[in-house]
Amino acid sequence: MKVFVTGANGFLGQHLVKSLLEKNFQVIATGKDVSRLLFNDKNYAYFSLDITNEKAVENMLSDEKPDIVIHTAAMTRVDDCEQNQNECFKINVLGTSFVVRSAEKYARHFIHISTDFVFDGEKGNYKEDDPLGYVNWYGFTKIEAEQLVKSSVIPWSIARTCLVYGNALYGTRSNIISWTKSKLEKKEKIKVVDDQVRTPTYVGDLAQGITAILEKKATGIFHISGREILTPYIMSMRTADFFSLDKNLIERVNASNFSEPAKRPPKTGFVIDKAVKELGFDPISFDEGLKLMF
Ligand SMILES: NC(=O)c1ccc[n+]([C@@H]2O[C@H](COP(=O)([O-])OP(=O)(O)OC[C@H]3O[C@@H](n4cnc5c(N)ncnc54)[C@H](OP(=O)(O)O)[C@@H]3O)[C@@H](O)[C@H]2O)c1
Repeated sequence: MKVFVTGANGFLGQHLVKSLLEKNFQVIATGKDVSRLLFNDKNYAYFSLDITNEKAVENMLSDEKPDIVIHTAAMTRVDDCEQNQNECFKINVLGTSFVVRSAEKYARHFIHISTDFVFDGEKGNYKEDDPLGYVNWYGFTKIEAEQLVKSSVIPWSIARTCLVYGNALYGTRSNIISWTKSKLEKKEKIKVVDDQVRTPTYVGDLAQGITAILEKKATGIFHISGREILTPYIMSMRTADFFSLDKNLIERVNASNFSEPAKRPPKTGFVIDKAVKELGFDPISFDEGLKLMF
C-alpha cells in the first residue's frame, strides 16, 4: 500500500515515516525543504513539495496516485502564526485545501493531523464531538482546515493531538522536556506555567495511533494523546526529578505573567476512550516517555 506523507521533514513526519516503513508500507515522503531524513529503505522516496503550490500538489498526487494521504504539514509555531497571519492561512488552510482536493481525485483515504488548539480551553478534557472554539490564529486556521476535510468527498479521518514531546530523529527540536533539562543542567532559572492543562503525547505513540487509523481504515475524528493530565510546571518538575536536577530553579507562574503574541487555551487535554476502543491505542506514561527520550 502506498502512503503519501506531507510535512515528512517535521517532528511528527519523521516518526510517522519511520513507523510506516517498519510496517512495510511504501512511503512517498514530501516536505517543503530538501530532505532532512536519512531513511535507507527500498520502500521510501522523498520529494520536495510546497503545499501552497496548487499545480505542484496536483501534479505530484496525479503522478503518485497513493492509496492514502497523511497530511501533517502546517505552520505550527503559534506565535509565528499570530504575527504572520496571511502566511499561516496560506499554509494551514489554502495548502490543506489543495492537498485534500487532489487527494479526492487520486487517493482513497485522507488522514489529517489537527490539534487541541481547535478548542478554546475553557472546559478541558475534550471529547471528539465537543464544540470547537479558538483563542489564537493558529487555532482558527486549524478549525478551517478541519472544516475543509470534513466537507470533502474522500473518506477522511482527523487525528487531533496535544503537546507532542520526544526527540527528533534527524535534527533537533526543542520541547518542554528538552528545554527544562538543558536549562537546569546549566543551572539557569526557568519560569513555567501552572495554570494550563494538557495531556502530553509521546511522538512515537502519535505515529502509532495514526498508523492504526490507516491500517483499520478508521474514519471520523480521533483524539490521540497521552492519558495523564499535566500542567507544564508539573512536566518540568517531573523532568527535574527524573534527571535529579535542582527543582528550586523552577518558578511556578501563571500564564498572565508572560506576554506572548498568541494567547494559549488554558485547559485542553483529551478523553482518548474512542481511540483506545476503536484503534487499540495504548499510550505510554509520561515517565516512560522520559525514559525513552534519554
Ligand atoms: N508538535 C505538537 O505539539 C503538535 C500538537 C498538536 C498538533 N500538532 C500538529 O501536528 C502536525 C505536525 O506538527 P509537527 O510538530 O511535526 O510540526 P513541525 O515539526 O513544524 O513540522 C511541520 C512541517 O510542515 C512543513 N511545511 C510547512 N510549510 C509547508 C509548505 N508550504 N509546504 C510543505 N510543507 C510545509 C515543514 O516542512 P519543511 O521542514 O520541509 O520546511 C515542517 O517540516 C501539524 O499539523 C500540527 O498542527 C502538533
